[in-house]
Amino acid sequence: MTSQTIPVDPFDLIVFGGTGDLSERKLLPALYQRQKAGQFSEPTRIIAASRSALSDEAYRDFAGRAIREHVAAEEIDEEELRTFLARLAYVQVDARSGDGFERLKEATEGSRAVRVFYLAVAPALFGDIAGNLAAHGLAGDGARIVVEKPIGRDLASANALNDAIGRVFDEHQIFRIDHYLGKETVQNLMVLRFANALYEPLWNSAHIDHVQITVAETVGLEDRVSYYDTAGALRDMVQNHMLQLLCLTAMEPPSSMDADAVRDEKLKILRSLKRIEGAEAQKLTVRGQYRAGASDGGAVKGYTQELGRDSDTETFVAIKAEIANWRWAGVPFYLRTGKRLAERVSEICIQFKPVPHSIFGDSTGTVMANQLVIRLQPDEGVKQWLMIKDPGPGGMRLRHVPLDMSFADAFDVRNPDAYERLIMDVVRGNQTLFMRRDEVEAAWNWIDPIHAAWDDNRQPAQGYTAGTWGPSGAIALIERDGRTWHESG
Ligand code: BG6
Repeated sequence: MTSQTIPVDPFDLIVFGGTGDLSERKLLPALYQRQKAGQFSEPTRIIAASRSALSDEAYRDFAGRAIREHVAAEEIDEEELRTFLARLAYVQVDARSGDGFERLKEATEGSRAVRVFYLAVAPALFGDIAGNLAAHGLAGDGARIVVEKPIGRDLASANALNDAIGRVFDEHQIFRIDHYLGKETVQNLMVLRFANALYEPLWNSAHIDHVQITVAETVGLEDRVSYYDTAGALRDMVQNHMLQLLCLTAMEPPSSMDADAVRDEKLKILRSLKRIEGAEAQKLTVRGQYRAGASDGGAVKGYTQELGRDSDTETFVAIKAEIANWRWAGVPFYLRTGKRLAERVSEICIQFKPVPHSIFGDSTGTVMANQLVIRLQPDEGVKQWLMIKDPGPGGMRLRHVPLDMSFADAFDVRNPDAYERLIMDVVRGNQTLFMRRDEVEAAWNWIDPIHAAWDDNRQPAQGYTAGTWGPSGAIALIERDGRTWHESG
Protein backbone atom coordinates (compact mmCIF):
# COMPACT_ATOMS: atom_id res chain seq x y z
CA MET A 1 0.00 0.00 0.00
CA THR A 2 1.43 3.41 -0.92
CA SER A 3 1.03 6.44 1.31
CA GLN A 4 -1.59 7.66 -1.15
CA THR A 5 -3.94 4.95 -0.03
CA ILE A 6 -3.72 5.04 3.76
CA PRO A 7 -7.42 4.98 4.67
CA VAL A 8 -8.96 7.87 6.57
CA ASP A 9 -11.59 7.46 9.29
CA PRO A 10 -15.20 7.04 8.18
CA PHE A 11 -16.80 10.41 7.48
CA ASP A 12 -20.11 12.09 6.71
CA LEU A 13 -19.48 14.84 4.18
CA ILE A 14 -22.37 17.25 3.79
CA VAL A 15 -21.92 19.37 0.68
CA PHE A 16 -23.99 22.57 0.51
CA GLY A 17 -24.20 23.47 -3.16
CA GLY A 18 -24.12 19.77 -4.00
CA THR A 19 -25.59 20.41 -7.46
CA GLY A 20 -23.31 23.36 -8.24
CA ASP A 21 -20.37 23.75 -10.54
CA LEU A 22 -17.66 23.04 -7.96
CA SER A 23 -19.34 19.82 -6.88
CA GLU A 24 -19.80 18.73 -10.45
CA ARG A 25 -16.33 19.53 -11.76
CA LYS A 26 -14.14 19.00 -8.71
CA LEU A 27 -15.65 17.53 -5.55
CA LEU A 28 -17.51 14.50 -6.92
CA PRO A 29 -14.65 13.47 -9.24
CA ALA A 30 -12.12 13.93 -6.41
CA LEU A 31 -14.18 11.87 -3.99
CA TYR A 32 -14.67 9.12 -6.55
CA GLN A 33 -10.90 8.98 -7.12
CA ARG A 34 -10.19 8.72 -3.39
CA GLN A 35 -12.65 5.89 -2.96
CA LYS A 36 -11.09 4.13 -5.95
CA ALA A 37 -7.65 4.57 -4.40
CA GLY A 38 -8.93 2.68 -1.35
CA GLN A 39 -8.89 5.62 1.00
CA PHE A 40 -12.43 5.40 2.37
CA SER A 41 -13.36 3.39 5.44
CA GLU A 42 -16.93 2.28 6.06
CA PRO A 43 -19.43 3.68 6.73
CA THR A 44 -18.61 6.83 4.76
CA ARG A 45 -21.46 8.92 3.40
CA ILE A 46 -21.73 11.92 1.14
CA ILE A 47 -24.88 13.98 1.53
CA ALA A 48 -25.57 16.69 -1.00
CA ALA A 49 -27.67 19.59 0.21
CA SER A 50 -29.17 22.19 -2.03
CA ARG A 51 -32.36 24.10 -2.78
CA SER A 52 -33.67 22.02 -5.66
CA ALA A 53 -36.18 19.28 -4.97
CA LEU A 54 -34.34 16.09 -5.90
CA SER A 55 -34.61 12.46 -4.88
CA ASP A 56 -31.53 10.46 -3.86
CA GLU A 57 -31.85 8.65 -7.18
CA ALA A 58 -31.94 11.86 -9.21
CA TYR A 59 -28.86 13.12 -7.38
CA ARG A 60 -27.01 9.88 -8.05
CA ASP A 61 -27.80 10.30 -11.75
CA PHE A 62 -26.42 13.82 -11.62
CA ALA A 63 -23.26 12.63 -9.83
CA GLY A 64 -22.76 9.73 -12.22
CA ARG A 65 -22.90 12.10 -15.18
CA ALA A 66 -20.52 14.52 -13.50
CA ILE A 67 -17.98 11.78 -12.85
CA ARG A 68 -18.19 10.37 -16.35
CA GLU A 69 -17.70 13.84 -17.76
CA HIS A 70 -14.85 14.97 -15.52
CA VAL A 71 -12.89 11.78 -14.88
CA ALA A 72 -10.83 10.28 -17.70
CA ALA A 73 -12.66 7.33 -19.30
CA GLU A 74 -9.83 4.90 -18.46
CA GLU A 75 -10.17 5.83 -14.78
CA ILE A 76 -13.82 4.79 -14.61
CA ASP A 77 -14.39 1.42 -13.04
CA GLU A 78 -18.09 0.55 -13.27
CA GLU A 79 -18.18 -1.49 -10.05
CA GLU A 80 -16.35 1.26 -8.16
CA LEU A 81 -18.69 3.90 -9.55
CA ARG A 82 -21.77 1.91 -8.44
CA THR A 83 -20.40 1.64 -4.90
CA PHE A 84 -19.59 5.32 -4.92
CA LEU A 85 -23.04 6.39 -6.09
CA ALA A 86 -24.65 4.16 -3.49
CA ARG A 87 -23.06 6.20 -0.70
CA LEU A 88 -24.65 9.42 -1.95
CA ALA A 89 -27.82 10.90 -0.52
CA TYR A 90 -29.66 14.14 -1.11
CA VAL A 91 -31.40 16.51 1.28
CA GLN A 92 -33.32 19.59 0.16
CA VAL A 93 -32.40 22.59 2.29
CA ASP A 94 -32.89 26.32 2.20
CA ALA A 95 -29.87 28.00 3.73
CA ARG A 96 -31.74 31.22 4.47
CA SER A 97 -34.99 29.99 5.97
CA GLY A 98 -33.44 26.96 7.63
CA ASP A 99 -35.94 24.60 5.98
CA GLY A 100 -34.48 21.16 5.67
CA PHE A 101 -31.87 21.41 8.42
CA GLU A 102 -33.99 19.13 10.63
CA ARG A 103 -33.89 16.55 7.83
CA LEU A 104 -30.14 16.97 7.68
CA LYS A 105 -29.99 16.36 11.38
CA GLU A 106 -32.06 13.20 11.08
CA ALA A 107 -29.85 12.01 8.25
CA THR A 108 -26.68 12.33 10.30
CA GLU A 109 -27.99 11.55 13.79
CA GLY A 110 -26.38 8.66 15.57
CA SER A 111 -23.40 8.65 13.21
CA ARG A 112 -20.01 8.39 14.88
CA ALA A 113 -18.19 9.35 11.71
CA VAL A 114 -16.15 12.55 11.29
CA ARG A 115 -18.64 15.24 10.25
CA VAL A 116 -17.60 17.71 7.56
CA PHE A 117 -19.74 20.53 6.16
CA TYR A 118 -18.46 21.75 2.81
CA LEU A 119 -19.82 25.15 1.77
CA ALA A 120 -19.62 25.06 -2.03
CA VAL A 121 -21.97 28.05 -2.19
CA ALA A 122 -21.76 31.82 -2.54
CA PRO A 123 -20.03 33.43 0.47
CA ALA A 124 -23.20 35.45 1.13
CA LEU A 125 -24.67 32.21 2.49
CA PHE A 126 -21.80 31.27 4.83
CA GLY A 127 -23.29 33.06 7.83
CA ASP A 128 -26.81 31.68 7.34
CA ILE A 129 -25.59 28.13 6.94
CA ALA A 130 -23.30 28.33 9.98
CA GLY A 131 -26.16 29.83 12.02
CA ASN A 132 -28.60 27.14 10.95
CA LEU A 133 -26.11 24.37 11.68
CA ALA A 134 -25.71 25.75 15.19
CA ALA A 135 -29.45 26.23 15.69
CA HIS A 136 -30.10 22.60 14.76
CA GLY A 137 -27.36 21.20 16.95
CA LEU A 138 -25.22 20.11 14.02
CA ALA A 139 -22.10 22.14 14.75
CA GLY A 140 -20.68 20.33 17.75
CA ASP A 141 -17.03 20.04 18.70
CA GLY A 142 -16.23 17.26 16.29
CA ALA A 143 -17.69 19.02 13.23
CA ARG A 144 -15.52 20.70 10.59
CA ILE A 145 -16.47 23.34 8.09
CA VAL A 146 -14.83 23.95 4.71
CA VAL A 147 -15.13 27.26 2.90
CA GLU A 148 -13.95 28.36 -0.50
CA LYS A 149 -12.73 31.67 -1.79
CA PRO A 150 -13.62 34.42 -2.35
CA ILE A 151 -13.33 35.10 1.37
CA GLY A 152 -14.41 38.69 1.06
CA ARG A 153 -13.53 41.38 -1.45
CA ASP A 154 -11.50 43.42 1.04
CA LEU A 155 -10.42 43.21 4.67
CA ALA A 156 -13.73 44.46 6.08
CA SER A 157 -15.90 42.00 4.16
CA ALA A 158 -13.45 39.15 4.89
CA ASN A 159 -13.70 39.97 8.58
CA ALA A 160 -17.48 39.93 8.41
CA LEU A 161 -17.45 36.45 6.82
CA ASN A 162 -14.85 35.12 9.22
CA ASP A 163 -16.82 36.53 12.16
CA ALA A 164 -20.03 34.89 10.95
CA ILE A 165 -18.35 31.47 10.70
CA GLY A 166 -16.31 32.10 13.84
CA ARG A 167 -19.45 32.65 15.93
CA VAL A 168 -20.26 28.97 15.42
CA PHE A 169 -16.99 27.20 14.70
CA ASP A 170 -13.66 27.43 16.43
CA GLU A 171 -10.60 28.20 14.26
CA HIS A 172 -9.37 24.58 14.54
CA GLN A 173 -12.65 23.45 12.92
CA ILE A 174 -12.46 25.88 9.97
CA PHE A 175 -10.76 24.80 6.75
CA ARG A 176 -10.31 27.68 4.27
CA ILE A 177 -9.40 26.23 0.93
CA ASP A 178 -6.83 27.70 -1.40
CA HIS A 179 -6.74 24.91 -3.94
CA TYR A 180 -3.21 25.90 -5.05
CA LEU A 181 -1.93 24.49 -1.76
CA GLY A 182 -3.30 21.10 -2.75
CA LYS A 183 -1.32 20.99 -5.98
CA GLU A 184 1.47 18.42 -5.89
CA THR A 185 4.21 20.76 -7.07
CA VAL A 186 3.21 23.44 -4.59
CA GLN A 187 3.70 20.99 -1.75
CA ASN A 188 6.88 19.90 -3.45
CA LEU A 189 8.20 23.43 -3.09
CA MET A 190 8.43 22.79 0.65
CA VAL A 191 10.14 19.45 0.09
CA LEU A 192 12.59 20.93 -2.39
CA ARG A 193 13.51 23.69 0.02
CA PHE A 194 13.49 21.84 3.31
CA ALA A 195 14.41 18.24 2.51
CA ASN A 196 17.52 19.20 0.53
CA ALA A 197 20.54 20.85 2.07
CA LEU A 198 21.58 22.26 -1.28
CA TYR A 199 19.34 25.27 -1.70
CA GLU A 200 18.73 26.75 1.71
CA PRO A 201 22.21 28.29 2.21
CA LEU A 202 21.77 30.13 -1.11
CA TRP A 203 18.14 31.07 -0.56
CA ASN A 204 18.59 34.74 0.28
CA SER A 205 19.50 38.16 -1.04
CA ALA A 206 23.24 37.37 -1.08
CA HIS A 207 22.72 34.78 -3.83
CA ILE A 208 19.32 35.39 -5.40
CA ASP A 209 18.87 38.28 -7.80
CA HIS A 210 15.10 38.12 -8.05
CA VAL A 211 12.10 35.76 -8.13
CA GLN A 212 9.34 35.55 -10.72
CA ILE A 213 5.97 33.96 -10.10
CA THR A 214 3.76 33.48 -13.14
CA VAL A 215 0.27 32.02 -13.26
CA ALA A 216 -0.84 32.35 -16.86
CA GLU A 217 -4.13 31.04 -18.19
CA THR A 218 -5.48 30.78 -21.72
CA VAL A 219 -9.14 30.71 -20.67
CA GLY A 220 -11.25 33.86 -20.69
CA LEU A 221 -14.23 34.83 -18.62
CA GLU A 222 -15.83 31.35 -18.85
CA ASP A 223 -19.30 31.35 -17.26
CA ARG A 224 -18.40 33.50 -14.31
CA VAL A 225 -19.56 36.90 -15.47
CA SER A 226 -21.21 38.13 -12.31
CA TYR A 227 -18.41 37.08 -9.98
CA TYR A 228 -15.37 37.89 -12.10
CA ASP A 229 -16.33 41.36 -13.18
CA THR A 230 -16.72 42.46 -9.58
CA ALA A 231 -13.48 40.76 -8.55
CA GLY A 232 -10.74 41.15 -11.17
CA ALA A 233 -7.37 39.42 -11.27
CA LEU A 234 -5.94 41.05 -8.14
CA ARG A 235 -8.72 39.67 -5.93
CA ASP A 236 -9.27 36.47 -7.89
CA MET A 237 -5.66 35.27 -8.15
CA VAL A 238 -3.16 37.47 -6.34
CA GLN A 239 -4.80 37.84 -2.91
CA ASN A 240 -4.85 34.07 -2.53
CA HIS A 241 -2.98 31.76 -4.94
CA MET A 242 -0.11 34.07 -5.91
CA LEU A 243 0.53 35.24 -2.35
CA GLN A 244 0.48 31.67 -1.10
CA LEU A 245 3.11 30.74 -3.68
CA LEU A 246 5.15 33.74 -2.65
CA CYS A 247 4.90 32.72 1.01
CA LEU A 248 6.04 29.16 0.40
CA THR A 249 8.95 30.43 -1.67
CA ALA A 250 10.04 33.08 0.78
CA MET A 251 9.17 31.83 4.27
CA GLU A 252 11.73 30.83 6.90
CA PRO A 253 12.02 27.09 7.49
CA PRO A 254 9.18 26.12 9.85
CA SER A 255 10.25 23.88 12.72
CA SER A 256 7.91 21.13 11.53
CA MET A 257 5.04 20.47 9.13
CA ASP A 258 2.67 21.17 11.97
CA ALA A 259 -0.16 23.41 10.70
CA ASP A 260 0.61 26.37 12.91
CA ALA A 261 4.38 26.08 12.45
CA VAL A 262 3.92 26.47 8.68
CA ARG A 263 1.20 29.09 8.89
CA ASP A 264 3.16 31.21 11.38
CA GLU A 265 6.01 31.44 8.86
CA LYS A 266 3.71 32.30 5.97
CA LEU A 267 2.05 34.95 8.07
CA LYS A 268 5.40 36.62 8.79
CA ILE A 269 6.02 36.95 5.06
CA LEU A 270 2.59 38.43 4.40
CA ARG A 271 3.19 40.93 7.17
CA SER A 272 6.63 41.80 5.78
CA LEU A 273 5.40 42.68 2.30
CA LYS A 274 6.14 46.32 1.59
CA ARG A 275 2.92 48.21 1.20
CA ILE A 276 2.27 49.55 -2.28
CA GLU A 277 0.21 52.71 -2.07
CA GLY A 278 -0.45 56.06 -3.62
CA ALA A 279 1.54 57.10 -6.68
CA GLU A 280 3.94 54.17 -6.18
CA ALA A 281 1.28 51.81 -7.48
CA GLN A 282 1.77 53.32 -10.92
CA LYS A 283 5.42 52.26 -10.89
CA LEU A 284 5.04 48.90 -9.21
CA THR A 285 1.82 47.50 -10.65
CA VAL A 286 0.28 46.99 -14.08
CA ARG A 287 -3.37 46.30 -14.78
CA GLY A 288 -4.44 44.82 -18.08
CA GLN A 289 -7.57 43.67 -19.87
CA TYR A 290 -7.65 41.39 -22.89
CA ARG A 291 -8.94 42.55 -26.25
CA ALA A 292 -10.02 40.32 -29.13
CA GLY A 293 -7.26 38.06 -30.40
CA ALA A 294 -6.43 34.40 -30.84
CA SER A 295 -6.22 31.76 -28.16
CA ASP A 296 -6.00 27.96 -28.21
CA GLY A 297 -5.90 28.02 -32.00
CA GLY A 298 -9.03 30.10 -32.59
CA ALA A 299 -10.26 33.68 -32.69
CA VAL A 300 -11.61 34.90 -29.35
CA LYS A 301 -13.56 37.92 -28.22
CA GLY A 302 -12.25 40.67 -26.03
CA TYR A 303 -13.26 40.79 -22.35
CA THR A 304 -15.91 43.49 -22.72
CA GLN A 305 -17.38 41.75 -25.76
CA GLU A 306 -17.67 38.55 -23.75
CA LEU A 307 -19.18 40.52 -20.91
CA GLY A 308 -21.58 42.38 -23.18
CA ARG A 309 -20.90 45.77 -21.65
CA ASP A 310 -18.13 48.17 -20.84
CA SER A 311 -15.88 47.42 -17.91
CA ASP A 312 -12.51 48.41 -16.53
CA THR A 313 -12.01 45.19 -14.53
CA GLU A 314 -8.47 43.85 -14.86
CA THR A 315 -7.94 40.39 -16.32
CA PHE A 316 -4.18 40.72 -15.93
CA VAL A 317 -1.99 42.05 -13.20
CA ALA A 318 1.76 42.33 -12.76
CA ILE A 319 3.36 43.52 -9.55
CA LYS A 320 6.87 44.16 -8.38
CA ALA A 321 6.67 43.15 -4.73
CA GLU A 322 9.30 43.36 -2.03
CA ILE A 323 9.66 41.62 1.29
CA ALA A 324 11.11 43.86 3.93
CA ASN A 325 13.11 41.44 6.05
CA TRP A 326 16.78 40.41 6.39
CA ARG A 327 16.59 37.46 4.05
CA TRP A 328 14.95 39.26 1.15
CA ALA A 329 15.78 42.96 1.37
CA GLY A 330 16.43 44.26 -2.14
CA VAL A 331 15.21 41.11 -3.93
CA PRO A 332 12.19 41.87 -6.12
CA PHE A 333 9.42 39.30 -6.44
CA TYR A 334 7.80 39.90 -9.81
CA LEU A 335 4.28 38.50 -9.95
CA ARG A 336 2.13 38.22 -13.04
CA THR A 337 -1.13 36.50 -13.74
CA GLY A 338 -3.76 36.84 -16.40
CA LYS A 339 -6.46 35.32 -18.51
CA ARG A 340 -6.20 34.76 -22.27
CA LEU A 341 -2.43 34.78 -22.21
CA ALA A 342 -0.17 33.05 -24.71
CA GLU A 343 0.12 29.78 -22.80
CA ARG A 344 -1.27 28.01 -19.76
CA VAL A 345 1.68 27.87 -17.46
CA SER A 346 2.30 28.36 -13.75
CA GLU A 347 5.82 28.52 -12.52
CA ILE A 348 8.19 29.97 -10.00
CA CYS A 349 11.54 31.07 -11.33
CA ILE A 350 14.41 31.71 -8.95
CA GLN A 351 17.09 33.76 -10.65
CA PHE A 352 20.44 33.40 -8.89
CA LYS A 353 23.16 36.04 -9.07
CA PRO A 354 25.97 35.63 -11.60
CA VAL A 355 29.37 34.31 -10.56
CA PRO A 356 31.43 37.16 -9.08
CA HIS A 357 34.20 36.80 -11.66
CA SER A 358 34.41 34.80 -14.85
CA ILE A 359 37.69 33.04 -15.61
CA PHE A 360 36.45 32.22 -19.12
CA GLY A 361 37.33 34.55 -21.97
CA ASP A 362 34.87 36.28 -24.30
CA SER A 363 35.19 33.66 -27.03
CA THR A 364 33.78 30.88 -24.80
CA GLY A 365 30.23 32.21 -24.58
CA THR A 366 28.53 34.19 -21.87
CA VAL A 367 28.50 32.78 -18.36
CA MET A 368 24.82 32.91 -17.50
CA ALA A 369 23.53 32.99 -13.96
CA ASN A 370 21.89 29.85 -12.55
CA GLN A 371 18.16 29.62 -12.61
CA LEU A 372 15.79 27.26 -10.81
CA VAL A 373 12.41 26.88 -12.44
CA ILE A 374 9.66 25.10 -10.55
CA ARG A 375 6.87 24.27 -12.96
CA LEU A 376 3.52 23.89 -11.21
CA GLN A 377 1.44 23.15 -14.30
CA PRO A 378 1.24 21.77 -16.88
CA ASP A 379 4.21 19.32 -17.21
CA GLU A 380 5.02 19.53 -13.51
CA GLY A 381 8.70 19.43 -12.78
CA VAL A 382 11.86 21.19 -11.76
CA LYS A 383 14.61 22.55 -13.99
CA GLN A 384 17.91 23.65 -12.58
CA TRP A 385 19.77 25.65 -15.21
CA LEU A 386 23.55 25.33 -15.03
CA MET A 387 26.57 26.23 -17.14
CA ILE A 388 28.45 23.29 -18.64
CA LYS A 389 31.19 22.85 -21.17
CA ASP A 390 29.98 22.07 -24.65
CA PRO A 391 31.41 18.58 -25.31
CA GLY A 392 34.15 18.28 -27.91
CA PRO A 393 37.75 19.22 -28.40
CA GLY A 394 37.18 22.50 -30.23
CA GLY A 395 38.24 24.72 -27.35
CA MET A 396 36.33 25.83 -24.31
CA ARG A 397 32.74 26.69 -25.18
CA LEU A 398 30.16 27.19 -22.44
CA ARG A 399 26.48 26.34 -22.54
CA HIS A 400 23.48 27.00 -20.31
CA VAL A 401 21.54 23.72 -19.95
CA PRO A 402 18.89 22.42 -17.57
CA LEU A 403 19.05 19.50 -15.19
CA ASP A 404 15.52 18.59 -16.02
CA MET A 405 13.21 16.58 -13.81
CA SER A 406 9.82 16.07 -15.31
CA PHE A 407 7.49 14.45 -12.78
CA ALA A 408 5.58 12.60 -15.48
CA ASP A 409 8.81 10.92 -16.62
CA ALA A 410 10.16 10.31 -13.15
CA PHE A 411 6.98 8.88 -11.60
CA ASP A 412 4.53 6.69 -13.36
CA VAL A 413 1.49 7.80 -11.41
CA ARG A 414 -1.61 9.84 -12.10
CA ASN A 415 -1.22 13.40 -10.84
CA PRO A 416 -4.12 13.75 -8.38
CA ASP A 417 -6.28 16.84 -8.43
CA ALA A 418 -5.66 19.32 -5.61
CA TYR A 419 -9.12 18.63 -4.16
CA GLU A 420 -8.34 14.96 -3.58
CA ARG A 421 -5.57 15.85 -1.19
CA LEU A 422 -7.42 18.70 0.46
CA ILE A 423 -10.67 16.86 1.19
CA MET A 424 -8.77 13.97 2.75
CA ASP A 425 -6.78 16.43 4.86
CA VAL A 426 -10.04 17.88 6.19
CA VAL A 427 -11.15 14.40 7.23
CA ARG A 428 -7.77 13.82 8.87
CA GLY A 429 -8.10 17.18 10.64
CA ASN A 430 -4.80 18.42 9.20
CA GLN A 431 -4.89 22.19 8.62
CA THR A 432 -1.36 22.64 7.22
CA LEU A 433 -2.60 23.28 3.68
CA PHE A 434 -5.47 25.57 4.71
CA MET A 435 -5.43 29.29 5.38
CA ARG A 436 -5.68 30.55 8.90
CA ARG A 437 -7.81 33.61 9.52
CA ASP A 438 -4.86 35.89 10.22
CA GLU A 439 -3.28 34.92 6.88
CA VAL A 440 -6.42 35.93 5.02
CA GLU A 441 -6.43 39.23 6.88
CA ALA A 442 -2.75 39.94 6.25
CA ALA A 443 -3.23 39.21 2.55
CA TRP A 444 -6.13 41.67 2.31
CA ASN A 445 -4.11 44.20 4.27
CA TRP A 446 -1.58 44.22 1.45
CA ILE A 447 -4.13 44.04 -1.38
CA ASP A 448 -6.51 46.77 -0.17
CA PRO A 449 -4.04 49.67 -0.51
CA ILE A 450 -3.28 48.59 -4.08
CA HIS A 451 -6.97 48.76 -4.96
CA ALA A 452 -7.26 52.11 -3.20
CA ALA A 453 -4.27 53.45 -5.14
CA TRP A 454 -5.70 52.21 -8.44
CA ASP A 455 -8.92 54.07 -7.67
CA ASP A 456 -7.14 57.24 -6.56
CA ASN A 457 -4.75 57.23 -9.52
CA ARG A 458 -7.53 56.27 -11.91
CA GLN A 459 -5.08 53.70 -13.21
CA PRO A 460 -6.83 52.17 -16.24
CA ALA A 461 -6.49 48.59 -17.40
CA GLN A 462 -4.11 48.57 -20.38
CA GLY A 463 -5.40 46.58 -23.33
CA TYR A 464 -3.57 43.47 -24.50
CA THR A 465 -4.35 41.21 -27.39
CA ALA A 466 -5.70 37.82 -26.34
CA GLY A 467 -3.04 35.17 -26.87
CA THR A 468 -0.09 37.40 -25.95
CA TRP A 469 1.85 37.81 -22.71
CA GLY A 470 -0.12 40.80 -21.46
CA PRO A 471 0.19 44.55 -21.85
CA SER A 472 3.47 46.20 -22.82
CA GLY A 473 3.51 47.83 -19.38
CA ALA A 474 4.18 44.41 -17.85
CA ILE A 475 7.29 44.00 -19.96
CA ALA A 476 8.41 47.53 -19.08
CA LEU A 477 7.86 46.77 -15.36
CA ILE A 478 10.65 44.22 -15.33
CA GLU A 479 12.82 45.57 -18.15
CA ARG A 480 13.21 48.89 -16.37
CA ASP A 481 15.20 46.89 -13.83
CA GLY A 482 17.40 45.35 -16.53
CA ARG A 483 15.61 41.97 -16.25
CA THR A 484 13.24 39.99 -18.45
CA TRP A 485 10.34 37.65 -17.83
CA HIS A 486 11.35 34.04 -17.98
CA GLU A 487 10.14 32.43 -21.18
CA SER A 488 8.77 29.03 -20.43
CA GLY A 489 9.75 26.05 -22.51
C1 BG6 B 1 -9.54 30.03 -9.31
C2 BG6 B 1 -9.87 31.32 -9.97
O1 BG6 B 1 -9.37 30.20 -7.94
O2 BG6 B 1 -8.36 29.49 -9.88
C3 BG6 B 1 -10.02 31.15 -11.46
O3 BG6 B 1 -11.08 31.84 -9.43
C4 BG6 B 1 -8.81 30.47 -12.05
O4 BG6 B 1 -10.25 32.39 -12.10
C5 BG6 B 1 -8.46 29.21 -11.27
O5 BG6 B 1 -9.10 30.13 -13.39
C6 BG6 B 1 -7.14 28.64 -11.73
O6 BG6 B 1 -6.94 27.41 -11.12
P1 BG6 B 1 -6.07 26.28 -11.84
O7 BG6 B 1 -6.04 25.17 -10.84
O8 BG6 B 1 -6.77 25.93 -13.11
O9 BG6 B 1 -4.73 26.90 -12.08
